[in-house]
Amino acid sequence: MLRIVVCVSGGGTNLQAILDAIDRGQITNTEILAVISNNAGARALTRAESRGIPGFCISPKSFSDRETFNRAFTDKVCELNPDLVVLAGFLVKIPEAMVARFSNRIINIHPSLIPSFCGVGYYGLKVHEKVLERGVRVTGATVHFVNEGMDEGPIIAQKAVSVEEEDTPESLQRRVMEQAEWILLPEAIDDIANGRIAVVNNKVRRQ
Ligand code: GAR
Repeated sequence: MLRIVVCVSGGGTNLQAILDAIDRGQITNTEILAVISNNAGARALTRAESRGIPGFCISPKSFSDRETFNRAFTDKVCELNPDLVVLAGFLVKIPEAMVARFSNRIINIHPSLIPSFCGVGYYGLKVHEKVLERGVRVTGATVHFVNEGMDEGPIIAQKAVSVEEEDTPESLQRRVMEQAEWILLPEAIDDIANGRIAVVNNKVRRQ
């Protein structure tokens, strides 16, 4: 059984997609140990609570500096001792010590086709604003392992989504979620839970 911790910051629709996929049997062999949010008001925490999944808020605002927050966050994840950490709309950079401790055991969903529209400053709705500003016709989402870089780890899966003439950042975000994120992230978790992927030479191999 793959024991996972899901980290969230806001709405938690990707968390909901994981919960629904577990219910439908599309993710097997997986148990959610806990949900961690950096934001006390995150709707994702309510989604966890209504399922009886332990929820924790660890906010940088409650600590005197980033170093102390990083240590508290890493300590909490280590205490939960998951097999896999899933960043499902978690908008905080993962501390290096945690990346080292959970090498190739942290995955992230990003709302663009990496390496486009990613890195520092590209998160949430901002990604879709930049996509529309640039006028690209195709965007999408990527699920990848997390390394010490920003959105730079081995890519597990990607799915393209069309940009429409009349899109707003909000309408595009919704389409990318519906057509890509909510499909890719559950599939990746199921692949990992059932031993279908491995990282070889910094690339994901299906086996
Ligand atoms: C999602 O679009 C996710 O891909 C994005 O934040 C949103 C969270 O929505 N993540 C990033 O931008 C990470 N760099 P949700 O809380 O409804 O799942």
